[in-house]
Amino acid sequence: GAPVEVNISKVEPGQLIRVEWRGKPVWVVRRTEEILNNLATLDNQLRDPASVEEQQPSYAQNAVRSINPEYFIAVGLCTHLGCSPTYLPDTFGEQVEGVPSGFFCPCHGSKFDMAGRVFQGVPAPLNLVVPPHQYIGEGNVIIG
Ligand code: FES
Repeated sequence: GAPVEVNISKVEPGQLIRVEWRGKPVWVVRRTEEILNNLATLDNQLRDPASVEEQQPSYAQNAVRSINPEYFIAVGLCTHLGCSPTYLPDTFGEQVEGVPSGFFCPCHGSKFDMAGRVFQGVPAPLNLVVPPHQYIGEGNVIIG
């Protein structure tokens, strides 16, 4: 499949946009400072907090799983059986106390944080996949 270019300059803080790449949903989420601060507190609740498993390109193998911390880019498919998790920007705290936003898979209840890292005790074995991507020019990203 061909790479897809996405303009992310109009994505609001907290907003998620979806694009399609190779027939898969890809998410671009703009993270706030508050979200990034919360991510830093979650390690002991996560299965692979440092993303040791290679679910991302090497340039996104870091604490926030991205090139630019403000933007999280991921393939929007659960690593259990491939359902698309639901983005809960405000109500994820009902799933994991003290974590205001995240992703919840409706199929079997897997939970992922705002860096796509899987929580412990759910069926999904791995963090969400971060696709290959690069930033070009003003607010544009190429996925693939
Ligand atoms: Fe997501 Fe099973 S497919 S939890």
